[in-house]
Amino acid sequence: MDQLTTELNRLLRNASGTTLWLVDENIQLDVPANPCVQVVGNRLDVIERLQQRGWQASFSDFDLSAAQDASFELILYRVSKEKPVVHYLIGEAQRLLRSGGTLILLGDKGEGIRTYAKKAEACLAGGRQEQKLGKDSWCAEISRGQAAGDCPEHQDYTQLRPVCEDAQRQYWSKPGLFGWNKIDRGSALLIEHLSDMLDTELPLQGSVLDLGCGFGYLALNAADTSTARLVCSDNNAAALRACRYNLDKAGLERAEVVAANAGDRLQPGFDLLICNPPFHSGFSVDGDLTDRFLEAARRLLTGNGTACFVVNQHIPLERKAAGLFADIHTHLDSGQFKLVRLRQPINIQSQGRS
Ligand SMILES: C[S@@+](CC[C@H](N)C(=O)[O-])C[C@H]1O[C@@H](n2cnc3c(N)ncnc32)[C@H](O)[C@@H]1O
Repeated sequence: MDQLTTELNRLLRNASGTTLWLVDENIQLDVPANPCVQVVGNRLDVIERLQQRGWQASFSDFDLSAAQDASFELILYRVSKEKPVVHYLIGEAQRLLRSGGTLILLGDKGEGIRTYAKKAEACLAGGRQEQKLGKDSWCAEISRGQAAGDCPEHQDYTQLRPVCEDAQRQYWSKPGLFGWNKIDRGSALLIEHLSDMLDTELPLQGSVLDLGCGFGYLALNAADTSTARLVCSDNNAAALRACRYNLDKAGLERAEVVAANAGDRLQPGFDLLICNPPFHSGFSVDGDLTDRFLEAARRLLTGNGTACFVVNQHIPLERKAAGLFADIHTHLDSGQFKLVRLRQPINIQSQGRS
């Protein structure tokens, strides 16, 4: 366990006044639930794990509007990867902390923790104390003064807005989801070749799943109102909001948007699955995520179904898919991305019985 986690666990264990803990993807929790602490987070899997362990935890795109002004004595936050999220939450801390209350920020130097601590000090207009936890890790305590200072610019964190476009449409998105303001190049490559990969015309017919949908780029380009069923799923609250908005704007109100951890809440029965899987979890590369997405594809496809993945070239998707699919075909290797088609999901249960 790293020093940041050890310190966060200690702070959570010792919290005794009304405390808010803001979490995104970066936690390895080892503390029993503390009833003084309310948790808000934007990752469904993290929030579900905390709820299972008895924490009072709610899932949203850091929607803190229901919390009253000056209602917390302590706010704990291990900073997120994206600057607008951190800035927005520092601003929310100004509103939510009572005078004399404390915001504790934890993070590594490379993540900008020292700059964030200074910005938080200016915003909360109280004092700042910093403690070095290890080689690069810091813990900053910023107190809420009587007055309110200038809060850092958060680019209208809560608002969806048009961020990019192609010949087909404009895409709406917001900070808080990965690659929020651009079309992913891997995803664009998958759409360009999807028809060839499947040897069928777009839009796709049948029952289609966009797994890890982000703001919905793949679904919007692969399906339309003629698609029998379209489901988009992600674990990130900001992504789900943006995806719903883009689908509605495209006249796809019938499409379902489902919060799930690598599709775990979905029932099997999809003819087609399109996916640009994540390989980062928080600040680190998480190889298990690819395995979880592949396993979801195996479980959720019909026996005749097909999954089309795009991955960075260094991800050994074909090797990881062996044992889960009988038909694995690398359709294209661009030197940067691979397009991989998976067919004939292997029914692991019936295999085990034979
Ligand atoms: C590389 S992005 C692709 C986004 C979108 N499909 C596109 O093509 O632009 C991967 C997506 O997977 C989502 N994701 C990460 N971990 C997940 C998990 N455990 N369960 C479901 N979705 C997850 C991320 O929030 C992100 O939207």
